[in-house]
Amino acid sequence: MTEQRERTTFDPTAMETRAFYRVLNSVVVPRPIAWVCSRSAEGVHNLAPHSFYTVACVDPPVVQFTSVGRKDSLNNVEATGDFTINLTPEPLFEQVNATGTDFPPDHSEAEHTGVRLEPSETVTALRVAESPVSIECTLHSTLRLGDSTVVFGRVQAISAWSSAVRDGRPRIEELRPLARLGGNEWSTIGEVLEISRIPFRAWAEDPSIGEKVRDR
Ligand SMILES: Cc1cc2nc3c(=O)[nH]c(=O)nc-3n(C[C@H](O)[C@H](O)[C@H](O)COP(=O)(O)O)c2cc1C
Repeated sequence: MTEQRERTTFDPTAMETRAFYRVLNSVVVPRPIAWVCSRSAEGVHNLAPHSFYTVACVDPPVVQFTSVGRKDSLNNVEATGDFTINLTPEPLFEQVNATGTDFPPDHSEAEHTGVRLEPSETVTALRVAESPVSIECTLHSTLRLGDSTVVFGRVQAISAWSSAVRDGRPRIEELRPLARLGGNEWSTIGEVLEISRIPFRAWAEDPSIGEKVRDR
């Protein structure tokens, strides 16, 4: 029998909210970063990173990001009804971080950080010209959860640099996405592994498949 490793348990009911949040953020990793570009009712273009971000639904295509508290991005999306989510590429590391500064609503993060924006294909929100991928969304719905609001975006189009697309899909080596870890740590993509899914039929017919997986 293998020995059980000693564990530390973090109990959210026995900890300060911020302290538990730091632990949670350190274990849900790595997180992709949605660089959310939105426009205020007054026409100010806003750009902010959100790492609480994932695919919410396949059909129809829906993505989601979470605003912890009420941020300008959330206010803008509710006011104008659309936004873009831009992939955060490694060469723009410092710019992505700098757009997380708490600029007042009448300040454009893109202008402050020198990130060039350009018109999108299907929505009024701009996209990041130097990002290889932009997901164009209209507001599907929002869900209030405690201190946070989940924003669901119906995907109207994905625009990718043609040079990054091979065999019908954008390629990871061209995208080089940044990801968020805990604390002030970030990561790059690192080694890319490839493996195909094992259908149950193959698993059932060939006992050596299971033996190989178990025999680490
Ligand atoms: C990499 C990174 C990821 C972040 N992820 C989130 C997030 O998921 N949700 C959130 O509310 N704030 C997140 N923040 C903080 C916001 O970007 C920051 O509060 C920003 O000022 C919000 O901008 P806005 O008010 O223009 O929307 C993140 C910051 C950084 C640098």
